[in-house]
Amino acid sequence: MPAIIKSFFDPITSTLSHVVYDHAGGQAAVIDPVLDYDAKSGRTSTIAADKILQFLREQELTLAWILETHAHADHLSSAKYLQQNSGGKIAIGAHIGQVQATFKKLFNLEPGFAVDGSQFDVLFEEDEIFHIGQLQAKALFVPGHTPADMAYQIEDAVFIGDTLFMPDTGTARCDFPGGDAQQLYRSIQKILALPPHTRLFLCHDYPPLDRHHESATTVAAQRADNIHIHDGISEEQFVQMRKKRDATLAVPVLILPAVQVNIRAGTFPPAEPNGISYLKIPLNSL
Ligand SMILES: [Fe+2]
Repeated sequence: MPAIIKSFFDPITSTLSHVVYDHAGGQAAVIDPVLDYDAKSGRTSTIAADKILQFLREQELTLAWILETHAHADHLSSAKYLQQNSGGKIAIGAHIGQVQATFKKLFNLEPGFAVDGSQFDVLFEEDEIFHIGQLQAKALFVPGHTPADMAYQIEDAVFIGDTLFMPDTGTARCDFPGGDAQQLYRSIQKILALPPHTRLFLCHDYPPLDRHHESATTVAAQRADNIHIHDGISEEQFVQMRKKRDATLAVPVLILPAVQVNIRAGTFPPAEPNGISYLKIPLNSL
């Protein structure tokens, strides 16, 4: 049975969120949903998430899963908000504890902050099988961008998170804590070994000025044209390119707020005695 997919593009963070479902009136998964965040005011809003909720209502879908490919550094997750409004289990890769431990240390989080992934409902192991209604899904372990990245293969579509971007924009950076270009190369090879017509759904698109944003590409297109990792690029060449390029990239605008919320599965830090929840900025540490 082919998966039906509706993609949503957030123009502020260039993030693609996807709703995957078996049929109208059936079951759905939402992948990498965005929570709007205004860094100037520290105010969150749910414009992007509400569009997804509206779509779920229109199609009369039951939200079974909220799937995170990884702890994002470029946007806050609305997983918790979606769950509060529509139910579903929030899932991420089993290695998320490694990311939580790194950032617990950086942010000096409260002693009770667990680094075992227990903020999430389900932690997927490599190649674990699960179902979205009548659709069969498999969790693929694709570390490199972070040590815990997952991709989700759902019938004939793969949601590739931060591994590959569109062929003209290459691959994800590997310079965050625990990132590893060699690992990313190997993870990408796993994706590129899938049948050529396999549809690859992106987590981001950063289109050049002369094209509109896209939500998907194919294995064949990536193998032919990806500027960083087309057929014939060796692991050594890739690692060298990736390291050189990462050294030139700025820190993502929202990394500090995003990570603090995303390692909590989209929940805000515990409120202080005055009832307000705060995010921390570690000075001279990143
Ligand atoms: Fe990312």
